[in-house]
Amino acid sequence: MTTRVTKAVFPVAGLGTRFLPATKSVPKEIMTLVDKPLIQYAIDEARAAGIEEFIFVTARGKSALEDYFDHAPELETRLAEDGKDQLLDVLKSTYMPSGAIAYIRQHQAMGLGHAVWCARNLIGDEPFAVILPDDVIAAEKPCLQQMVEAHRETGGCMVAAMEVPNERTSSYGVLDVEAGQGDTMKVRGMVEKPKPADAPSNLAVIGRYILSPQVMQHLDSVEKGAGGEIQLTDAIAKEIDSPRGVFGHRFSGERYDCGSKAGFLQATVAFGLARDELRDEFGQYLHEMMAIRNAAQ
Ligand code: G1P
Repeated sequence: MTTRVTKAVFPVAGLGTRFLPATKSVPKEIMTLVDKPLIQYAIDEARAAGIEEFIFVTARGKSALEDYFDHAPELETRLAEDGKDQLLDVLKSTYMPSGAIAYIRQHQAMGLGHAVWCARNLIGDEPFAVILPDDVIAAEKPCLQQMVEAHRETGGCMVAAMEVPNERTSSYGVLDVEAGQGDTMKVRGMVEKPKPADAPSNLAVIGRYILSPQVMQHLDSVEKGAGGEIQLTDAIAKEIDSPRGVFGHRFSGERYDCGSKAGFLQATVAFGLARDELRDEFGQYLHEMMAIRNAAQ
């Protein structure tokens, strides 16, 4: 029996420079996919997987993110008076029980591993999840839930995995696994952002993790890695030879890299077309746009 995973860490301290000037005043996690901020997609996925405690590792300039989870009594009263029950439900779906959220500051940008390590005192001696809100995953069964189910069988550490084009390995943590395993694969090596020539495979780590508490101890002592930063990948790799082990889980679903402009736009189109109230009008518009573009070529 593995311990239930009830805590999740959300590293949200990044500057979001790729989305300047928007991120000058808006944290990138508040940027909106159709009508929900990226962070809400991450929270909804965590809740679906049974997470009860939400730990945000933030930084200066992220207060809008903290405000987002506050209750909004004036708005609530107005919507109730106007009989806008559906909108009231939407508003309430963003509320979190008191005490369920904790904010920790990362005082220096020293990398993803360092951000996760900042949450060590709140994690204690339990397995925990990490969700990178930039990676938005559309799936029938939410990705973290798929992983929690697989983790029940394996224990140890688990990372979400997906094949990427060979020339893109230098943007990801990359896994070395034995061939011929199913969707849950025992990992025998992992390396952060290798050049294609040095990559052990094209199986990349995507921003969902379930980690044994020992990873926090490894983060205490791990040296700076790729990009001169404390890398989460390096600390997880230290678990490979432990009795617990590390597993990659090939999830089902479509992943969007909302940390890049092209990925964000693709996600906007996909999530827009998935919405009943937008599908016809938006689909028609895209169709016309493509026709105009094709005619011009
Ligand atoms: C981080 C991780 C990397 C992982 C990626 C997934 O990199 O360090 O191992 O593959 O997220 O999105 P980042 O995108 O923060 O550079």
